[in-house]
Amino acid sequence: MKKAILLFIVLAAVFLLVSCSGKSSQPVPDTEETASSAVNQEISEKADDSIYMVLVNKQHKLPENWPDKIELATGTNAVGEDYLVEKKALEAFEKLRADLLEDGIDIELDSTYRTVEYQQKIWDEFTEEKGEDYARAYVAVPGYSEHHTGLAIDVMLIKDGEVIDDNDDMIAEKEIFAKVHKRLADYGFILRFPEGKDDITGYSYEPWHFRYIDSVEIAEEIMDKGITFEEYLGEVPEVTGEAA
Ligand code: DAL
Ligand code: ZN
Repeated sequence: MKKAILLFIVLAAVFLLVSCSGKSSQPVPDTEETASSAVNQEISEKADDSIYMVLVNKQHKLPENWPDKIELATGTNAVGEDYLVEKKALEAFEKLRADLLEDGIDIELDSTYRTVEYQQKIWDEFTEEKGEDYARAYVAVPGYSEHHTGLAIDVMLIKDGEVIDDNDDMIAEKEIFAKVHKRLADYGFILRFPEGKDDITGYSYEPWHFRYIDSVEIAEEIMDKGITFEEYLGEVPEVTGEAA
């Protein structure tokens, strides 16, 4: 009997030793977490080389030779106007538009690729009509507009047969734009000038201005977190203002 008790004590001691040594060893990496951070790294490495991740804002001018890097295609809106858009961005936009149309929401091309000369025309018109402060809040100075990239799309709405394209009228369409914004990332788009982020983007809220970035994963991250493109890229300016 004593032997049996002794054997039990020895076995229990061995068991305790083995299980404790397991706990003090290196933590086993969570394989799911490791796999997902590898995927994130792969996405961000791919994105680093992508023309679709170009940053153009008040501090970053359109890169040199940009027109050589992109292919523009022509899209036509419901009122018969033609617009130039970067090819993949246009294909993605057509899918987004068709998806929304199924729910009775009609977004249409309103302003897309712009030359520097055309941006100057818009700048002059806004400055004359609404004053320079308003222009600075809504219009980029020529050379610094994302519209030069071909990757930015301004939409207008068609609601009950009426075109809604005025800035204030579109801002008032909160319900419609909330539904539109929820679908942007599914097609590789982000909302470029979100509400309340003027100090980062340098522009007022523009619910109509979408930017194609060609990555659903990154677009989802940006839209889900409600951050700006600048925040995603780690390029938040210290002081908002034009570099030029
Ligand atoms: N509306 C945007 C800021 C542009 O003019 O590029
Ligand atoms: Zn725009």
